[in-house]
Amino acid sequence: MTIVENQMLIIFGASGDLTSRKLIPALFDLYKGNYLPKNFVVLGTSRSVLSDQEFRDKVVANSKYLKEKLNSHDEAYVKAFANKIFYTEIGNDYSSEYNGLKERITMLDEEHGTENNYMFYLSTPPNIYETIAMNLAAQDLADESQGWKRLIVEKPFGYSYETAKKLNTGLQKYYSEPQIYRIDHYLGKETVQNLLITRFANSIFEPLWNRNYIHHVEITNAETVGVEKRGGYYDKSGALRDMFQNHLLQIISLVVMEPPIDDKAEEIRNEKVKALKSLRIMRDEKTLFKNTIRGQYLASDFMGEQVPGYREEEGVDPESTTETYAAIKFYIDNWRWKDVPFYVRTAKRMPTKVTEVVIHFKSPHHHIFSESGIIDKDNKLIIRIQPDEGILIKFGVKVPGQGFKVERANLEFYYSGLSEKNVMNAYERLLLDAMQGDPTLYARADEVEAAWEFVDPILEYWKNGKDVKTYGYSSGLWGPQNADELFDGLYSWRNPGEHLADDPGFCVIY
Ligand code: BG6
Repeated sequence: MTIVENQMLIIFGASGDLTSRKLIPALFDLYKGNYLPKNFVVLGTSRSVLSDQEFRDKVVANSKYLKEKLNSHDEAYVKAFANKIFYTEIGNDYSSEYNGLKERITMLDEEHGTENNYMFYLSTPPNIYETIAMNLAAQDLADESQGWKRLIVEKPFGYSYETAKKLNTGLQKYYSEPQIYRIDHYLGKETVQNLLITRFANSIFEPLWNRNYIHHVEITNAETVGVEKRGGYYDKSGALRDMFQNHLLQIISLVVMEPPIDDKAEEIRNEKVKALKSLRIMRDEKTLFKNTIRGQYLASDFMGEQVPGYREEEGVDPESTTETYAAIKFYIDNWRWKDVPFYVRTAKRMPTKVTEVVIHFKSPHHHIFSESGIIDKDNKLIIRIQPDEGILIKFGVKVPGQGFKVERANLEFYYSGLSEKNVMNAYERLLLDAMQGDPTLYARADEVEAAWEFVDPILEYWKNGKDVKTYGYSSGLWGPQNADELFDGLYSWRNPGEHLADDPGFCVIY
């Protein structure tokens, strides 16, 4: 195992939800797993005025996100964890008062022996990322002559290609690219990483992983929740910026990429960038009209309760056309994928929470068995990202009896069946990687920019295009009525159930 050096994690925006909800629980898990270095300090900073103890109480003792995890440990054990956590407030708009922060960092470093190794985690609104980087650099907190300095940046990384590029250039003025870690929590998911293993640690899939054998690729990312308390943010973002530009394009790049030379971070990231750059960018209105669908959820009786429509959500413009459903069909301009359509959708208020990649294989060249419904019975490889994580292969078997009637059978693998039960959650894994200086699962500047280049014209079209419509769908349905119109021929979306092996169309009646 790579050694985790003594270090300090400084969290900006520490009084916010992400710190209590994700970061501290992930650190607690790392503490439990003995992954934290001997000398380790967490210093939270934000505009709120809090003492060390008040901050500890907020994110540890009184945290609803840690409650369950703490139950099984005695007080002294939890206290030893909480005692690693400190807090200092920062000026009103994060643009001044870095002297105080620097002093606190230096003091804690001397007291706790964190050896000048500092990791800054920016969990603030993105418009102040550059200001923070500039101020840290002005305090010599980007300088690596003594100890390393790393900057972790939360999403959203930019609002468009231009803004992402500007942000990259802005941060790179103060921190070099290898010091910058752009987090995408989907890359921290075991099942997303397993896409690399499925493809490149087996010899049975990769020979088929191309236009000769694959008919189309389908990716679904569905959530049952609405926008919850994030209406204000979401209404300016929408599903394409919130999920597709980052998480889904990351998954797509892993499905599409060529084999890297080895498993070094830069080799993998080079191939991912190449994959993203080969996505055919759709520019003309006709193509965009034909290949994109946006929708918005409507009020409905859903899972036993009456849920509001998107436009009735707090913080959302009552005339908003922001999408809570986005479905995109696109092609990839390279040797491997020529003419293979990719269908990708992401949405809120769907019948079930699920993310999966489905590789649909072509039907056999010559049909010996006069079986109708071959589309239903095509060979599929279903890679379940979440929940009920696993892999399912659908293949034809003979129905016992006279003649040759073909039915579909399942070959399944479930993560839950593995003997190694301690699967790190995404933030735990990603934090540990950054603490060890491994950027493999973080997005590089050119990756993020390539993703925006693909998404920008769609966003522009949805904003200003002539024929653009936002279709409504009742909460709890698989999107608008015309959702299947993207598909060529007789195909349609595979609407997955809660469990990997559920057949399409299955849904839970509450
Ligand atoms: C976040 C989005 O990045 O991912 C949220 O901002 C979304 O809108 C969330 O709900 C989904 O993450 P997961 O891990 O629950 O699929």
